[in-house]
Formats: sequence, C-alpha cells, structure tokens
Amino acid sequence: MKKIAVYPGTFDPITNGHLDIIKRGIKVFDEIIVAVALSPGKEPLFSVDERVKMISDMTSDMPGVSVESFQGLLIDSLEKHHAHVILRGLRAISDFEYEFQMASMNRKLASKFETVFMMTAEQYSYLSSRFVKEICRLGGKVDCFVPPEINSALIEKFKEKR
Ligand code: COA
Repeated sequence: MKKIAVYPGTFDPITNGHLDIIKRGIKVFDEIIVAVALSPGKEPLFSVDERVKMISDMTSDMPGVSVESFQGLLIDSLEKHHAHVILRGLRAISDFEYEFQMASMNRKLASKFETVFMMTAEQYSYLSSRFVKEICRLGGKVDCFVPPEINSALIEKFKEKR
C-alpha cells in the first residue's frame, strides 16, 4: 500500500521552511499532496491559484509531490486522495498547543487518519509567512527565507499594492 500524506497549509507564500518539510517528507512517504487552503480568514496576499502555481513551480523537480487547492474539511481531502497521513511541520514549542488541538480534532472527526509531525530545521524554526510578508512590505530583505522566485513575486505584489 502506498504511503500518501497530505501537507496542508495556507502557504501565503511558501517559504524555505515549508520546502524543507516537503523535501524531507518525500523521503518518508511515497506521495505528498500539498493542499493549499483558501483560508479567507487570513486574507491572503496571494490568490489560491497564485499560491498553487508557486508551489508547483518550486516542487516540479520533486517526484511524488503534487499540489492542489482545497476548501472544506481537511479530512475530506484525505479521503478523496486515499491518503492516511496529515503531515505538519512543528517549529517552536508555541506551535505545539495549536497543533495538538488540530490533530486531536481531526482524530475525533476521523480516527483512521494519523497526523505526523516533522521538526522544522533549526534555521527555519522562527520563520513564518506573516513575518516574511511584513518584512518585505516594509522594504526589508527576505531572500534568505524564500526561494528567489518567491522573493521576486513578493516584491512585485507589494509594488502593485502601492
Ligand atoms: N516553516 C516555516 N513556516 C511554517 C512552517 C515551516 N515548516 N510550518 C508552518 N509555518 C508557518 C506558516 O507560514 C504560517 O505562518 P503565518 O500564520 O504567519 O501565515 C503558520 O506557520 C501556520 O500556518 P499554516 O501552516 O499555513 O497553517 P494554517 O494554520 O494556516 O492552516 C489548515 C491550517 C489550513 C491546515 C487548517 O486550518 C485546516 O485544516 N483547515 C481546513 C478546515 C478543517 O478541516 N478544519 C478543521 C481542523 S481541526
């Protein structure tokens, strides 16, 4: 049986920290489906189509990784793909409570799925998409946090917004 994991998130935008989880995750799972949540509540900077396109471009050389958007319950997305695992990155202790709640809720909704956590690499443990956007919006450099293409997309996006 293929080991299929769904890696969900808002990815607004994808960072080196997320890519690190995908690269390490694909050594553990046969397939990873990166599931991009619409997350309207987060008022994303990039549209869901832009986010899917960016992640697809960043992962095009990674066999076994695919990308799609999703809305509705995460567990329905797992069901659709015959996946068994929700893959999440754990950064700092502060992530633990939220992730614990989410994993517990998902288990309550569908106990056949497991949430698997990977420790985010140390150099990305403080990274978040929100800070990356804020730094870029205020004219700071974010090229050490995101791939060059995402860096350019961020700069363009903030130019459009001015
Ligand atoms: N490296 C760097 N940053 C990371 C990271 C990593 N490895 N892992 C997470 N982050 C950051 C993200 O950039 C994001 O930063 P931001 O909040 O500043 O934008 C933050 O950590 C966490 O966001 P994200 O990973 O995108 O998760 P989320 O909390 O926005 O997404 C969903 C949560 C989409 C998975 C969840 O809401 C969901 O499943 N929704 C579907 C509805 C559902 O089923 N609900 C029931 C759930 S119990």
